[in-house]
Amino acid sequence: MESHDEEHAAKLLRAQKHVWNHIFSFITSMSLKCIVELGIPDIIHNYAQPMSLSNLMASLPIHSSKTHSIHRLMRIMVHSGFFSQHSDTHNDLEVKFALTDASLLLLKSHPMSVTPFLHSMLDPILTNPWNQFSNWFRNDDLTPFQTAHGKSFWEYAGSDLKMNNLFNDAMACDSELVTSLLMEKFKGAFMGLETLVDVGGGTGTIGKAIAKSFLQLECIVFDLPHVVAGLQGIENLKYVGGDMLETIPPADAILLKWILHDWSDEKCVNILKKCKEAISRKGKDGKVIIIEMVVDNEKKDFESIETQLFFDMEMMVLVKGKKRNEKEWSTLISSAGFSNYKITPVLGLRSLIETYPQ
Ligand SMILES: C[S@@+](CC[C@H](N)C(=O)[O-])C[C@H]1O[C@@H](n2cnc3c(N)ncnc32)[C@H](O)[C@@H]1O
Repeated sequence: MESHDEEHAAKLLRAQKHVWNHIFSFITSMSLKCIVELGIPDIIHNYAQPMSLSNLMASLPIHSSKTHSIHRLMRIMVHSGFFSQHSDTHNDLEVKFALTDASLLLLKSHPMSVTPFLHSMLDPILTNPWNQFSNWFRNDDLTPFQTAHGKSFWEYAGSDLKMNNLFNDAMACDSELVTSLLMEKFKGAFMGLETLVDVGGGTGTIGKAIAKSFLQLECIVFDLPHVVAGLQGIENLKYVGGDMLETIPPADAILLKWILHDWSDEKCVNILKKCKEAISRKGKDGKVIIIEMVVDNEKKDFESIETQLFFDMEMMVLVKGKKRNEKEWSTLISSAGFSNYKITPVLGLRSLIETYPQ
């Protein structure tokens, strides 16, 4: 009887721990935002060796009454894998911290720094809609973003310079990382092309890298007018403003990176049909190169699956989009009139999906 009671209590406490853990999961995101805002990864990096807590406390631009709280912030970030901790003394102030692979990506000076992505995704403009999530399920608004801000994500970005810049910088920093891997592992996808349009290409990070690697290739970065306004092209790249739901400039190939996840199935089929028209107008058979997540694409570990699910939810809350599994991709692609596709999982959580009209 006693052992049954013990088992019952253990179950109850495990359940409570699980619920508590999820109630407080936002603390990981907010602590991460805090260390970036305080510049802790850069301070440790500039120190050029593991940095003691006392040195870190002395280097931080914080109020003297708060220094004693830094070790608690560092402790949770060590737990989350953003710092490693080294200790050869019993003096707590002499415990030392070093960067990990994850915090290296938080450095301002890192060429593929993810901090612009962090600043954008954790800005209250993007996090406030989560407070409207259940209201949105009850109303007929397009997205929780719309419930929170009274307009769509793209309308907001078009009317608010701060948000437009935050978001474009976030996309550009992700493109730095993707470009370097793409050019290293998958240059072949662009060989032999004469013209390419990067549809929804943002401020042109990927477009420029491709244009510089393939000088014979004429590139167009095509995006909404407020995104490309005032941007200067280079010799074989120009910026064109427009609406991909209306028309897309003709080319041998179209690049769609992180575009279709923003849209419903119906809108995606419409966009893909516009792409098909654009690659057919050149009179030969081109292709559409899609860079997106393929959910469950051999990603069985807990963190990969959870990260893909997080992205899927983010798309629901911000833009009425979604992440798709292979079956869903296949349906979209064939509904738009393409007959072939090839998925190459070369980009971690994301894949390259090459789509051909025949
Ligand atoms: C998630 S971002 C991806 C940006 C870029 N491809 C990248 O991955 O870095 C989506 C892009 O689509 C653009 N976009 C949204 N609606 C559009 C439309 N109707 N026509 C053209 N571009 C659009 C946005 O301005 C934004 O730059």
